Amino acid sequence: MAMTKPASRPVNPRFSSGPCAKPPVFDLAKLSDAPLGRSHRAAVGKAKLKAVIDGTREILGIPDDYRIGIVPASDTGAVEMAMWSLLGARPATMVAWESFGAGWVTDVVKQLKIEAEIKTADYGRIVDMASVDYDTDVVFTWNGTTSGVRMPNGDAIPANRAGLTICDATSAAFAQDLPWDKFDVTTFSWQKVLGGEAAHGMIVLSPRAVARLESYTPAWPLPKIFRMTKGGKLIEGIFVGETINTPSMLAVEDYLLALDWARSVGGLKGLMDRADANAQAIWNFCEATDWIANLAEDPATRSNTSVCLKFTDARIADGAGFAKAVAKRLEAEGVALDVGAYRDAPAGLRIWCGGTVETADIQAMLPWLDWAFQTEIAARADAA
Ligand SMILES: Cc1ncc(COP(=O)(O)O)c(C=O)c1O
Repeated sequence: MAMTKPASRPVNPRFSSGPCAKPPVFDLAKLSDAPLGRSHRAAVGKAKLKAVIDGTREILGIPDDYRIGIVPASDTGAVEMAMWSLLGARPATMVAWESFGAGWVTDVVKQLKIEAEIKTADYGRIVDMASVDYDTDVVFTWNGTTSGVRMPNGDAIPANRAGLTICDATSAAFAQDLPWDKFDVTTFSWQKVLGGEAAHGMIVLSPRAVARLESYTPAWPLPKIFRMTKGGKLIEGIFVGETINTPSMLAVEDYLLALDWARSVGGLKGLMDRADANAQAIWNFCEATDWIANLAEDPATRSNTSVCLKFTDARIADGAGFAKAVAKRLEAEGVALDVGAYRDAPAGLRIWCGGTVETADIQAMLPWLDWAFQTEIAARADAA
């Protein structure tokens, strides 16, 4: 028997974990002030780039003595620029509990070949950050986008540490409270929580990170695109908007629009509340439903942005095939796009809950998830 389809649909079915949904107010026409066809070194371009940096500092509450730079190649570019520029001065500790963190481990072990202690946890779990030696340089991800597991807080990181902390915060910045005093390098991309455009990333440096840059030269060559110093001094221009190479002024305008929208919803607190409400709606659904559960085992580590879910129904024999079929049904109905689990992650779904997503859309999507699940179960029973 076919299950009745829910009566209403999400207004915006975009629940991708990157690029993420644009802010609800987004309209291409609102980017018409972009200085297209102009040099990014002209006064108008420089002012826009500086507004990106200033607005980011204002909304995220980044301390005045931290440098903020716009860098190429999105979050990946920012993380790799940090690792290639800073690591090697002392031993490293690489911490990973999902796919992206694992990628940074590969960089350090196989490419940079640095002496490193590797600490990992399976999908759904987290590494005990109190077990890390903070006299080493520590690289970790705040919110594991592919497992939906995040750091609950930074309490385990000592304020007085000899090593540097390098934090990939790309799916956390603008959705979670970040303890800036615990980070020496923080990275994120525009395409994540604010729903910006891809290709540009941001790097945030503490004074200690700058001191390392100015006192240490890595043993390996650094491409121009990674170089933050010249003659042993920080290139300060990078941190007021004089980007290393040419940025997209259309993407810049789009990010500025997203920052304006962020202000309009109450800044960081408003963004965090929106993500919390979205994630809570899904957690409540899981609580009330006996065939689906959060991949994150400890509730304190559940992400409020990349919510990862696993099917727990004993009737499901082929977990990966089943999850893909459910995601396909949701996509075909146009009620949830891009909600399949990440390719390396356990089978299941991943639903983006960052602040650009409307809670009403999550709520309108959940009955469809029930519909898609029941319909797929029935289809498999019929086929058996
Ligand atoms: C935790 C994490 N790190 C890095 C990346 C790579 O980001 P980008 O493609 O913006 O470089 C992603 C993308 O989803 C991510 O979730």
